[in-house]
Amino acid sequence: MWFRTRLHGAGALLVAILSHRVVQAEYVDPAVLDRCPGYNATNVKTVGPQLTATLVLGGQACNVFGNDTKTLKLEVTYETDTRIHLKITDPTTERYEVPESVLPRPSADPSVRPSSAQIEFNYTAAPFSFTISRARTHEVLFSTASHPLIFESQFLRVKTTLPPNANIYGLGEHTETFRLDPANTTRTMWSRDAYGIPEGTNLYGNHPVYFEHRATGTHAVFLLSSNGMDVKLRNNETASGNTTLEYNVIGGVLDFYFLAGSETDPTEVARQYAQVVGTPAEVPYWSFGLHQCRFGYQNYIDVANVITNYSAASIPLETMWTDIDYMYKRRIFTTDPDYFPLNRMRQIVDYLHGHDQKFVLMTDPAVGYLPGESYGPYDRGTALDVWTKAPNGSASLGLVWPGVTVFPDWFHPKIEQYWTNEFEIFYSPTIGLDIDGAWIDMNEPSSFCDYPCDDPFAQAVQQALPPPRTSSPPDPTAQILGQNTTTVLKKRVQPGDDVLNPPYQIDNAAGVLSDRTAYTNAKHANGLVEYDTHNLYGTMMSVATHDAMLARRPGLRTLVITRSTFAGAGRKVGKWLGDNFSTWDHYRTSIAGMLGMATVYQVPMVGSDICGYAENTTETLCARWAMLGAFYPFMRNHNSDTSISQEFYRWPTVAQAARNVLSIRYRLIDYLYTAFHTASLDGTPIIHPLWFKYPADPSTFPIDLQFFFGDSILVSPVTDENSTSVSIYLPKDRFYDFATLAPVDGQGASVTLNNVDFTTIPLHIKGGTVLPLRANGTMTTTELRDTDFELVVAPGTDGHAAGKLYVDDGVSVEQKASTSVVFSYAGGTLTATGTFGFAAGVKVARVLFLGVAKAPRAVAVRGGSAGRTPFSYNATTQVVQVVVDVPLTHVFSVQLQS
Ligand SMILES: *[C@@H]1O[C@H](CO)[C@@H](O)[C@H](O)[C@H]1NC(C)=O
Ligand SMILES: *[C@@H]1O[C@H](CO)[C@@H](O)[C@H](O)[C@H]1NC(C)=O
Ligand SMILES: *[C@@H]1O[C@H](CO)[C@@H](O)[C@H](O)[C@H]1NC(C)=O
Ligand SMILES: *[C@@H]1O[C@H](CO)[C@@H](O)[C@H](O)[C@H]1NC(C)=O
Ligand SMILES: *[C@@H]1O[C@H](CO)[C@@H](O)[C@H](O)[C@H]1NC(C)=O
Ligand SMILES: *[C@@H]1O[C@H](CO)[C@@H](O)[C@H](O)[C@H]1NC(C)=O
Ligand SMILES: *[C@@H]1O[C@H](CO)[C@@H](O)[C@H](O)[C@H]1NC(C)=O
Ligand SMILES: *[C@@H]1O[C@H](CO)[C@@H](O)[C@H](O)[C@H]1NC(C)=O
Ligand SMILES: *[C@@H]1O[C@H](CO)[C@@H](O)[C@H](O)[C@H]1NC(C)=O
Repeated sequence: MWFRTRLHGAGALLVAILSHRVVQAEYVDPAVLDRCPGYNATNVKTVGPQLTATLVLGGQACNVFGNDTKTLKLEVTYETDTRIHLKITDPTTERYEVPESVLPRPSADPSVRPSSAQIEFNYTAAPFSFTISRARTHEVLFSTASHPLIFESQFLRVKTTLPPNANIYGLGEHTETFRLDPANTTRTMWSRDAYGIPEGTNLYGNHPVYFEHRATGTHAVFLLSSNGMDVKLRNNETASGNTTLEYNVIGGVLDFYFLAGSETDPTEVARQYAQVVGTPAEVPYWSFGLHQCRFGYQNYIDVANVITNYSAASIPLETMWTDIDYMYKRRIFTTDPDYFPLNRMRQIVDYLHGHDQKFVLMTDPAVGYLPGESYGPYDRGTALDVWTKAPNGSASLGLVWPGVTVFPDWFHPKIEQYWTNEFEIFYSPTIGLDIDGAWIDMNEPSSFCDYPCDDPFAQAVQQALPPPRTSSPPDPTAQILGQNTTTVLKKRVQPGDDVLNPPYQIDNAAGVLSDRTAYTNAKHANGLVEYDTHNLYGTMMSVATHDAMLARRPGLRTLVITRSTFAGAGRKVGKWLGDNFSTWDHYRTSIAGMLGMATVYQVPMVGSDICGYAENTTETLCARWAMLGAFYPFMRNHNSDTSISQEFYRWPTVAQAARNVLSIRYRLIDYLYTAFHTASLDGTPIIHPLWFKYPADPSTFPIDLQFFFGDSILVSPVTDENSTSVSIYLPKDRFYDFATLAPVDGQGASVTLNNVDFTTIPLHIKGGTVLPLRANGTMTTTELRDTDFELVVAPGTDGHAAGKLYVDDGVSVEQKASTSVVFSYAGGTLTATGTFGFAAGVKVARVLFLGVAKAPRAVAVRGGSAGRTPFSYNATTQVVQVVVDVPLTHVFSVQLQS
C-alpha cells in the first residue's frame, strides 16, 4: 500500500521527472553512443567450452557518463547445450556483482562441446561485437554489430539488433501489454512503491529477462544485474526497420545468459530459464483456496464478521488476512490493545483453525525508530546492530507507517537470527498469533520521505505518521463468531562513484534514485551499498521471511506473498501485483501481469487484487473480477482503506459469480497442484499465453486477454464494462465448452460469445487432455481432499488425450509418499498408470468421455469393479458418462466398445 495523504509530494515529483528528462535528452541520442570507439578483442583464448579475451578500448574515449574503462575481460562459457554465459568485467577493479548468496549461479557442464551446442557465440575482433545464433540454422538471435560496447564506472551499454517488429515478452515488472510494443518501450528496473501501477513506469519488482518469439523458435536473454537500468526497445531507428534493444545500466558488470529455447516448443525456454534462477517453490495445497483481505478493517469485530458472512453466504473462504490495521501505532510485531487485542485475535485464529481455515498477517520490513520506548523489535535489532547504515555509521533512517524507521540489513550475518526470533515471538502459536502464511509489503523498500530526506522527524510530523485511528474502539466484550467470551485486555509490549546522483539517470518515475525509498548511499554489513543492491531488498526479505516461517513450523511448506521481487524470488515466495485500482483497465492488464510472473519470471504463485485495491469497485466489475481471479494461481480479494467494502457477499450477483467460479476452481485445484508440482521440478509454466500452445500462429502472439490456466483450460473473460459478450480467438484446434462439455472446433479466427451473464466466465478445454477434477466444490480445501475425482477425457483432433495427477499430503516439504498418475486415451480406451504411494482415501467416481459421435455399445472397466459398467450417453453434447468407482490406489482402464 501507499500513503494516500502525501499528495503534496506530487508537485515535487513532477518537477523531478521533468527536470531529469531534460537532462537525459541529450544523452539518449543513439547516434552519439554509436560513435563511441568500442573495444578491440585481443589475447583471445579458447579452452574447452570457454573463450576468454582482453577487450582494449579501441580509440579516443567517448566518456559519455564518466571515463571509459580502458581494459575489460571477456569470458564466454558454453554452460550447457542450450546456454551460453557471457561476462564482461573490469580485470583491474572489483565491481559489484549480484551475490551468489542471493542468486546462486547455475552449475555448468564441463563436458559441453561448443560445436554441438544449440546456440553459438561468434565475434568480430575490431571493433569488438558479438552474435549469438541458433546453431542449426545460424540465425542470429542477438547481435551487437554497429553498436559499440560502452563500459564506464556508472554506465554500461549493450545494444542488439532484432528482426523488425520483434516479439519481446518480459523485462518486468510492468503494466504494459504482455507483448511489449517494440516501437517505443523503455523498461526501467528500479524497485518502487508504485501506487496505482502506472503504465510506462518502473514498478515493485525487477526481472531483467526477455523471451523473444519468432516463427523459427523462442529464445531468452537474461542480464543478471540488480543495478538500476533502462532497457529500450525501438523500431526503425535505422533504415532497415529492425527493432533494437538497448541496455543502459548504471553499475555492476555485464553478466548475460543466452538461452537457446527451442525451435518448436516455447515452454522449453521457460524451463531453461528455471535452470538459471531456480524452479518455483511448492506451496501448501490450502493456499489455492480463496483469500480475503482488506486495508481498513477497523477492529477485530470487523474481521470476525467477514468470516461469519462468507460462511453465511456459502462462499468458501479458506484464508482470512489482516492488513497493518492490527498493529499498535503501525509498528510491526505489535497488536493494538484496543482495536485488535491479542486475546481477541487469538480467538479468531483459533476459530479459523477449528474450521479448517487459515490466517495470514502483514509484516513490513521497516522497524519504528523508537529508542527508549521499550519497543522490543527495535531494541533487539539495535543490540544485534542489524540496521543498514548511513555513511556516517549511524542507522540509515526512512519514513514509513510508524513514523521514522530503520531498515533491516538482509546482508547482516545476524539478520536471520533477528528476523526468525521476532517471528517466533510475535507469531508464537501458544502466546502470539499463529499465522499460517506471511504477507510482506513495502519492501522495495518504500519510504514516504521526500528527497532530500534530511529531516525525517520533521517529515513524520508534517505527514502525521503514524496516522491516528479514525474510528472509536470497539466493544471489548462483543460476541463474535457465535461465541461469548469475557476478555482480559492486556497491552502487548512491544567510493568515488556518485551513488546519490549518478551521471546517467534512469527513467525512475519517482525521480532521483533515493526518493521515497532507502537512501542509495546506505551501507550493508558486508560493505555493499544500496545503490547496487536496492533491487534485491524485497527478495532478500522474502527469503528471510520464508526461512523464519520454516523455523516456526519445521518441515511444512510456507506461503509467503511479497510485493517486491527480483529474478529467482519464486524459489521461495509468491507475489501479488501491487496496489491496482478498481478499474476495468486494471482488470484487463492483470492478465498480462500474471503472464509475466507465471510464464516468464518463474514466480507462478501470483495474482492481482481481485475487484481492485484502490478506488471503488462496482457490482459488475467485482463479479467479473471474482471469476477472472479464480484463474489467478493466487486468488485474493483485497481492498484499500478508503474504498467501499467489496467482500464477495456484498452483492447478490457477485456472491453468485463467486459461488459458481469457486466451485469450478476448487474442482480444478488438483489439476493446478499437479502443474505446480511439475513446475517445481522443471520450471514448466502453470499459466500459458496462447502462443505457447500455438507458436506457429501469429494471431496468438499479441493475445493477452485470454490465457491457458494449466496446460488445457482456455480462459476467455468478458473484458468490457457492462458487456455480456466477448470476442475471443479460437486457434485452429479442437476445444470443448467447459460448461456443456460439447465440442467446439476453433477455426483460427475470432468468435463472438453472446449472453455471457455476470455470473459466468467462458472456459474451454483444449482437445488432447485428460482432466482430473474433484467431483464437486466444497467449503474448504480440507473437505476437498476427501472428495472423489472425476476424469474428463477430451480428445484432440488426432483422437488422443493425455493428462496427469499428482497427489501428496499437501503440506510437507519432504513427502514420504506420493501418487503420480498418468492418463492416456486412444482408440476408445482410457488407461491410468503410475505410482500410487499416497493413501488419498478417495476414488475416481466417474469418467466423462467428450466428443463421442456415436453411443458406445458397452463400456468395460478393468482394475476396479471389473466388467461391464452402466453408462449414459448424451447425443446432443456427445458425452459418455461412466460410473467407475475405482479407488485411487492402482492401475485401471476404461474402454468404450463400439
Ligand atoms: C582497434 O581496431 C581498429 C580497427 O582495426 C584500429 O583502427 C585501432 O587502432 C585499434 N585500437 C587499438 C587500441 O588497438
Ligand atoms: C576521468 O579521468 C580523468 C583524467 O584521468 C580524471 O581526472 C577524472 O577524475 C576521471 N573521472 C572519473 C569520474 O573517474
Ligand atoms: C559462427 O562461426 C562458425 C564457426 O566459424 C560458423 O560456422 C558460423 O556460420 C558462424 N555463425 C554466424 C551466424 O556467423
Ligand atoms: C534486420 O531485419 C532484416 C529484415 O528487414 C533481417 O533480415 C535481419 O536479420 C535483421 N537483423 C537482425 C540482426 O536481426
Ligand atoms: C515514445 O514514448 C514516450 C513516452 O511514452 C513518448 O513521450 C514519445 O513521444 C514516444 N515517441 C514516439 C516516437 O512515439
Ligand atoms: C520504417 O520506416 C519506413 C520509412 O520511414 C516506413 O515506411 C516503415 O513503415 C517503418 N517501419 C516500421 C515497422 O515502423
Ligand atoms: C451469550 O451471552 C448472552 C448474555 O449472557 C446470552 O444471552 C447468549 O445466549 C449467549 N450466547 C451464546 C451463543 O452462548
Ligand atoms: C468511494 O465511495 C465512498 C463511499 O461512497 C466515497 O466516500 C469515496 O469518495 C469513493 N471513492 C472514490 C475514489 O470515488
Ligand atoms: C455501465 O452501466 C452503468 C450503469 O448503467 C453506467 O453508469 C456506466 O456508464 C456504464 N458504463 C459504460 C462503459 O457504458
